[in-house]
Amino acid sequence: MTDTITLRRPDDWHLHLRDGVLLAAVAPGSAHFARAIVMPNLVPPVVDAAMVRAYRERIVAATGGGSFEPLMTLYLTDGTSPDDIDDAATVCTAAKLYPAHATTNSAAGVTDVEALTPVLERMAERGLVLCVHGEVTDADVDVFDREAVFLERVLEPLRRRVPGLRVVLEHMSTRAALAYVADGGDDLAGTITAHHLVIDRNDLLAGGIRPHNYCLPIVKRRADREALVAAATGGAPRVFFGSDSAPHTDPNKLGPCGAAGCFAAPVALAILATVFEEVGALDRLEAFVAERGADFYGLPRNDGVLRLARCAPYAPASVATPDGPIAVFAPPFALSWAVTVQESAEATP
Ligand code: NCD
Ligand code: ZN
Repeated sequence: MTDTITLRRPDDWHLHLRDGVLLAAVAPGSAHFARAIVMPNLVPPVVDAAMVRAYRERIVAATGGGSFEPLMTLYLTDGTSPDDIDDAATVCTAAKLYPAHATTNSAAGVTDVEALTPVLERMAERGLVLCVHGEVTDADVDVFDREAVFLERVLEPLRRRVPGLRVVLEHMSTRAALAYVADGGDDLAGTITAHHLVIDRNDLLAGGIRPHNYCLPIVKRRADREALVAAATGGAPRVFFGSDSAPHTDPNKLGPCGAAGCFAAPVALAILATVFEEVGALDRLEAFVAERGADFYGLPRNDGVLRLARCAPYAPASVATPDGPIAVFAPPFALSWAVTVQESAEATP
């Protein structure tokens, strides 16, 4: 039994860092990642290059300008133009498609995806990746079916209209999404969170409702979770890690209409180590967190090193903010891995 894990420094290909006092409180929880794709669903959303640049500067200030590199995304709206893409390409790695009203702060998202075609074509020309929140919003579609329906109604037609566009189907939660990405070809990838690997809808709803396990896409059946574990640990091509760490204060999560999102970044690697070890696949963890994502995005793999050590079992603590505490996502087992060493490339002899 190994007691330390040494990895190429990992990346997080889907992260919510928020802004203001929340940014200051949650940013340290991601410091051990070398890079992260930072989501633009602020209030107001980050819809043009100037806003992206300003947000990037606030993140760099909050992370101390250290060894963490934010990779920025543009929030697509019905009003985004191809010219906006030209501007964004100077500062962004990707652009984000939120179907309007699909999730937190997505009211300004896209209502007519087909009308976005010229924008997506320009993204393909510029090499910007399209990050997709893959859920339909139709009131008549069951919340547990929204991802699967999105694949056939929205994503497949979109990809046919814009060949050559690189697309990431984010936070996959179903067997349907895994199958779709597996069949998709080199321009399509999918991310998986740590929390979707360890909880299913029983952990959300059986024996009492657990708001801290509520996120979107909502966690599905155990069979879906098991398929996600098999894909992540089995080395499925073009499938890699994105934490979708999405902090909300306890007052916002625990009310009668609680916000969706799990603040998982601080414990994500400890969770992944547990999951990969359990199925005897620790040798594949590095590819999931530090190789396949960089390869898909066409970015160099990191040079630095991260080390995890086995430790006494612990439960995650909350992070204090002036707006109230933020509970760190707690898996349904005690954690027994901790990050002990994180060295950026510059620090590596
Ligand atoms: C995210 C958030 O809070 O910003 N929430 C979530 O449940 N994942 C938005 C998102 O990625 O859907
Ligand atoms: Zn997200």
